[in-house]
Amino acid sequence: MAKTDFFRGRRLRQTATMRALVRETVLRPEDLIQPYFVAEGDRHASRPIGSMPGQHQLGLEALTARVSQAVDNGLHAVMLFGIPESKDPQGSQAYAPEGIVQEAVRRLKAAVPELTVITDVCLCEFTSHGHCGLVDGQQVLNDPTLELLAATAVSHAEAGADIVAPSDMMDGRVQAIRLALDTAGFQQTPIMSYAVKYASAFYGPFREAAESAPQFGDRKTYQMDPSNAREGLREAEADTAEGADFLMVKPALAYLDILSQLRQRSTLPLAAYHVSGEYSLIKAAAQQGWIDEQAVALESLTSIKRAGADLILTYFAEQALDWLS
Ligand code: PBG
Repeated sequence: MAKTDFFRGRRLRQTATMRALVRETVLRPEDLIQPYFVAEGDRHASRPIGSMPGQHQLGLEALTARVSQAVDNGLHAVMLFGIPESKDPQGSQAYAPEGIVQEAVRRLKAAVPELTVITDVCLCEFTSHGHCGLVDGQQVLNDPTLELLAATAVSHAEAGADIVAPSDMMDGRVQAIRLALDTAGFQQTPIMSYAVKYASAFYGPFREAAESAPQFGDRKTYQMDPSNAREGLREAEADTAEGADFLMVKPALAYLDILSQLRQRSTLPLAAYHVSGEYSLIKAAAQQGWIDEQAVALESLTSIKRAGADLILTYFAEQALDWLS
């Protein structure tokens, strides 16, 4: 008998059914969370975001119509970002009971009760200076900001948000939000923490979409240095100890190593945010005819799941539902 001395990987790749039999990672509709930008003012407005083809700033009614249609198409969860008509240094529209995010939550929960509504908890879309916290001169203050973030989270829960997701990167905010939610009677509202959030250039298009670019300086004193991996694990440990129910890594594709290491260490559900710049890169190349949009997008999302994400926030969610069905 001849010696069978080598591994033949091709045995299991011969047919589509054979490949399906040994497929390790499968993207499901319920893994995907679509972010939306809801703008105060004209309720029927739908303003295309130039740097994010296919995405819009939506008025309340336009948002409701678009989300309802996506839910009919299999969407399970949304993440909401608000664009207020007026901003001030304290970001007071972030925690106003009738703020645009609070109104959008109420409207969506009334229209599509089965939808999971997640709200981004941050001040940057609501502050006149564009930073994620209160500022004193050039400094972004940590502890005085916590109270405002907690008030924002509670106002979202009061409006009916199913999950609150702090993205500000202030230290101690998960604990402050947990305490405030519990005190207000929202012991059952989970916190999805943007635990490992890098100071990334991939957020560029988002800042046009959300009109939230910082008016001075940058976010490097609170968001993480892209060079650091161990520090991300410490951030995740801290948020876990403070009571986070989900951990998020953001951005996704350039940080799959972090996601994979975190998957080894944490038993919590993990989310990854495939951010605006990651979306726009694919859209732009596809518009040029240089890549196959659907194939590249699905390969990207599958890779994020393979690396360890249970959930993926992506601007491709609506389209992916069509592609997967
Ligand atoms: C708010 C926030 C940002 C993103 C999500 N929440 C912007 C930022 O931190 O500058 C980015 C999302 C994206 O790029 O798609 N702090």
